This record gives sequence, C-alpha cells and structure tokens, in this order.
Amino acid sequence: MSAWATWLTWLEDSPPGLAMRQSPWLYPVVEITHILGFVILVGAVVMFDLRLLGLSRKIPVAALAEHLLPWAHLSFALVALSGVMLFASDARAIGVSPVFYLKLALIAAAGFNAAAFHIWFLKSVPAWEQNTTPPPVVRAIAVFSVVLWVAVIACGRLIAYF
Ligand code: HEM
Repeated sequence: MSAWATWLTWLEDSPPGLAMRQSPWLYPVVEITHILGFVILVGAVVMFDLRLLGLSRKIPVAALAEHLLPWAHLSFALVALSGVMLFASDARAIGVSPVFYLKLALIAAAGFNAAAFHIWFLKSVPAWEQNTTPPPVVRAIAVFSVVLWVAVIACGRLIAYF
C-alpha cells in the first residue's frame, strides 16, 4: 500500500473519521455547516465581484470590502474545517477522486486571484472608488473569481459521483 493510501486509511479510521461515520447526527451537522459556510463565503465574494464589475457604483468599494471581507474569512475557516471532517469520513474514496483534487486546485486558483487583487489593485481603489467604471483588469479579476467559485461549488457537488 502506498504511503498516501496508508495515510488515507489512518485518517478514515481516526477518531474524527470514526465519529463522522458512527454518530447519527454529526455528519448532517457538519454537512449543513459546510453548506452554510460556502453560502456565506461565495455569497460575500460574488457580491464584491458584482461591485468590481461596476454594479451599484454608489457604494464605495472600500466600505463594501470592509463589510464583506471579515465574513469571507470567517466562513472560509468554517468551510475548510467542515470540509476536512467530510473528507475524513470517507478519506479512502474521496482521496482518490480527481474531482476532489480539481476542487482543491480551483480553491487555490480563486485564492491567488483574490490575492492578486489585494496586492496589486486594492491600492488603486481611491481612483475608481465611486460612480466610476472599475479598470478592465479589475473587472477581469471579478469575472475570473465568479467562474472559479461556481466551478468549486460544482466540483463539491460532483465529488459524490466521481
Ligand atoms: C472553500 C470553498 C468550498 C466550497 C465552495 C465547497 C463546496 C462544496 C459543495 C457545494 C459540496 C456538496 C454539498 C452537498 O451536496 O451536500 C461540498 C462537499 C464536500 N466538500 Fe466542499 N467546499 C469547499 C471547501 C472544501 C474543502 C477545503 C474541503 C476539504 C479539505 C472540502 C471537502 C468536501 C467534501 C469531502 C465534500 C463531500 C463530498 C460528498 O461526499 O458528497 N470542501 N463542498
């Protein structure tokens, strides 16, 4: 058995993995937490992306970011923790699912895309803060973000089938 297969078996038979399979209520609670987490996360991200695409131009971009970012960070922690628990419950099967790894790669790409905005374009916000069309590169980042997060959700749902 490969080291990776051994680790997946260890995780599936670990106390969290066992509890997820044996408790009558833990799996549904964790799955509901996962769904709640990504509803808030993707909801916050897409609302910000729509602003970056030029909708609701009266709303100052910095003020909207200040409101939405803490929810995005908090809900990402919730999604990641519940995701690891869901993974532990069926690690041997999900650990060989190409859709699961595609999902993780898309989450990483969405993270790099968001980081690119924060590192290189957030400081230019005062120039297009209100009642102005954001620069084309910022709108491109917003479109890429929406497409990536929708793809993450699609992969999340498809894990059970592939
Ligand atoms: C960060 C953004 C994430 C989003 C938007 C997301 C989205 C989803 C969605 C839509 C589902 C299907 C839920 C259902 O049908 O009931 C799902 C299931 C799942 N997710 Fe995530 N997820 C995210 C992060 C993660 C992470 C970081 C992990 C693991 C490290 C993970 C592991 C799983 C697993 C194992 C399932 C259950 C698959 C199954 O057995 O049906 N997710 N996710």
